[in-house]
Order: sequence, then structure tokens, then C-alpha cells
Amino acid sequence: MHLGVLLLAAGNMVSGWRLPEAEAGSQNLLLIKKVTDKAEETKFDFVFFADGLNSFAGMHPSMVVRLEPLTLLGALAMTTTHIGLAATASTTYTEPYNLARMLASLDHLTGGRIAWNVVTGAFAEAAENFGAAKHPPHEERYAIAQEFIAVAKGLWDSWEEESLVMDKASGKFIDAAKLHVLDHKGKFFNVKGPLNITRPPQGYPVLMQAGASDAGINFAASIADVVFTVQQNKDTAIAFANRLKAVAERQYLRNPRHLKVMPGICTVVGSTEAKAKAKLAEIGSLTDPDYALKALSERMGTDLSSYPLDGPVPELPPSTIMQGHAITLAETARRRNMTLRELRDFVGVSMGHKLMCGTPEQIADEMEEWFRDGAADGFNLLPPYFPGAFDDFADHVVPLLQKRGLFRTEYNGRTLRDHLGIPRPDHPAKERPISSDRLRQASMT
Ligand SMILES: Cc1cc2nc3c(=O)[nH]c(=O)nc-3n(C[C@H](O)[C@H](O)[C@H](O)COP(=O)(O)O)c2cc1C
Repeated sequence: MHLGVLLLAAGNMVSGWRLPEAEAGSQNLLLIKKVTDKAEETKFDFVFFADGLNSFAGMHPSMVVRLEPLTLLGALAMTTTHIGLAATASTTYTEPYNLARMLASLDHLTGGRIAWNVVTGAFAEAAENFGAAKHPPHEERYAIAQEFIAVAKGLWDSWEEESLVMDKASGKFIDAAKLHVLDHKGKFFNVKGPLNITRPPQGYPVLMQAGASDAGINFAASIADVVFTVQQNKDTAIAFANRLKAVAERQYLRNPRHLKVMPGICTVVGSTEAKAKAKLAEIGSLTDPDYALKALSERMGTDLSSYPLDGPVPELPPSTIMQGHAITLAETARRRNMTLRELRDFVGVSMGHKLMCGTPEQIADEMEEWFRDGAADGFNLLPPYFPGAFDDFADHVVPLLQKRGLFRTEYNGRTLRDHLGIPRPDHPAKERPISSDRLRQASMT
């Protein structure tokens, strides 16, 4: 089983920072370092940093102000030795050359522990921060992302392995025959290359994705090593994982075992079920209902503030923001016959993710069942607050998973690909030796 933690330092839940034991602060490096160290001690696969490219005063407390993820990874690169470090970056509002270079640099700095959560940027407000006339529509954002990834991979392949010779005797610093100039001219990007850094230790950084719409699933199946997903029901989660892996295998000829599906879980651990429930109630009581309704509206893709709270959850048009959340929440409301108020309060304490509230045994049992039945290859943990809610999971649930042989007790490798059990991609020249023309061109460049 693979485990990651979404480290929104002011808590994954909107009221997380308000708990007396929470160490508030989304810019608090010491807290982020403390949780990352604990995750590494506990042998987590990775810590994960979400991001967006805008802000407003009513935003989620962990998102309204925060550290830029790639910069943050640069700091954590120097304080960790094994754990994977995952940063979110948008393909809509960055350039492939810059981003490929930054990710390659981080992968070198960490000896191969970097992942990129590829997002197309759900929030239209970002356009106004980047001089864009409008936020591209949903399908186009995915088309841009597809080309972006092809360019980034081409740039990471600029130099074949062992191209940096540094032979003092002959005076040869770099092997020009191992250089590939990308010369990409596409619909959205023109990028000549080559990249000014050698191939990342992992070949390509691990690619993470959370697409849930048809376009999103297609994109994830084609490129993702890890897929985050919002799931409430085990059978629906199994169907999602099977669909994703089938598309990866049939359409993109990928080995489905190299695609890891990791649903989000929000865990509230107590020494007794009553204590866990009391903690959940405390989190709920501190949640501002307006915030919760805003979060629900965002996840459903429709402003719900004018709908009656004690009426049923309305039928809504498909979301163009976060379809995965919208579909799962609508299904959950239907299945549990919830009112809008109940769904709002549920999102207030879970952000729409699967809530696992109970004793360590109860939580480990449910995780094991999802894992064994093919609903999950692992889980992306969303503790409601930090560090306590994460520590509870690390100290009490992880040992049970280890005792059951479901989770590692030591890291067996050094790279994130090693932890995830996914192979390092070969340089394409290994399968397709470069032509003599290309070689001549390379040596002239
Ligand atoms: C666990 C998880 C974390 C996510 N983190 C981010 C993030 O940091 N930034 C972002 O813009 N979107 C994030 N998303 C949203 C996804 O990138 C994507 O927009 C969403 O799942 C909807 O996919 P769709 O457009 O295919 O419907 C996240 C989604 C999930 C499930």
C-alpha cells in the first residue's frame, strides 16, 4: 500500500487551524518540516503540496496565503533523504521550458524524489494574474496539458544518460553526440531546446494527476504514474480504478500496474470510537457554515447560496471546475438522501473526501478492505489539522498496517519511483537509436 499526505499546513479542513492543538500557519516552514520529517520517519511514499494561482479573502485558510510549492521543495530537498516530494504546477499558466528545468533541478537536488502534480488550473480567476484574456475552456486546458507534457518529456530527454563526460585528459566536457534538440513546433508551444540540465535521476519526475472528467481520465490514463481521486463508495472506487487502468492499457499500451490510484481520505483517529466522533464534532462545531457552503459550491461548480438549506441537494449542470468532486458528492447525497445542509456540513469536515473516523483498528480495517478489493493502490491522507491529526494516524494506524504486512517498515530504494514500484523510463534513444543525420546536427549545435 502506498501512502502520501496532503500537507496544507493550516489544515485540510477549513476549521482545522482553529483546534486548540493545531499549529496554525500555511507559511510555517518549521511546521511543514516537522510533519515532513514525521512522514519520512513513518516511511510515507511522499508529501504533497497543492496549489492555485490566485487568492481572495474568503478562500480556504490553507490556500489564501501559502508558500509556492517548487520553492518549498527546494528547502525540503535539503532536510530529507528518502521521502518523495510532490509539488503542484499548472500547465495553463507556466511555460514548459521553465517548469521542466525547475523540476529537473529539484530531481537532481533530491537524488530522484520529485513528483509533479499536473493541474490544468481549475480556477478561472488565475487568468487575470497572467495577462490572459480568458481562462481556456475545460477541453482546451487538457489539450494544452497533453502538449505541455510531450514538450517537458522531450526536454528531459535533451541529453542521453552519461552525456556529461568531463574528461580532463581529452578536454571533452560534454558528449555532443548525446544531445537531442527538441525543435518542437506545436499548436500551443514552440520550444527549440535543448534543456540546460542533464536528464533527471528518475528519467522523468513522477507525474501525478487528478482528472475525473472524461477528458481528465483520458489524460491521466495517458501520462500519470499516480492518480488522486475523490471516492466515497468502495464499488464506485473499484469501477473508477478499473476504468482508468483499462484506458491506460488498451488505449496507451501502458502496464496498468504502473499506474497507482490513490483516493483521498480524511482521517480522524481516536482511542475509542466515541472519542473520534467527539473530535469530528469539535471540528464541525468550529467550521464556519459560510466557508463550508463556499467550498461545496466550488466543488459542485455552482453557487449554492440561494438554494434552501433544508431542501434536497439540487440537480445541477455538470461542473467545469472539479467534475470528480461534483460527481462523487452528488452521488453521495443521493445515496444517503441528504439535504443541502447535511451535504454542506459533510464537506465542512471532509472537503468532500472519504471520511474515516474511528479507532486505529477500524480505520486500518477499512483501508485494508479498499486496498485488497482493488479500490485503491494506496491513499492520499488529508488530516484535518497539523501536526496532531497526522501524528495520530502515523503513530496508531501505520503500525497496524505494518503489522498486517500492508505497508513498508523501511524504504527499499532511494527514489520516489522505487517507493512506488514504477520503473524509470529509458531514454527514447535506447529503443530508437538516433540517425546519423541527427548525430551530425547534434555535433554542430
Ligand atoms: C487530492 C486532489 C488534489 C488536488 N489538488 C489540486 C491543486 O493543488 N490545484 C488544482 O488546481 N487542482 C487540484 N485538484 C483538482 C484536479 O487537478 C482537477 O482539476 C480535478 O480533479 C477535476 O478534474 P476534471 O477537470 O477532469 O474534472 C486536486 C484534486 C484532488 C482530487
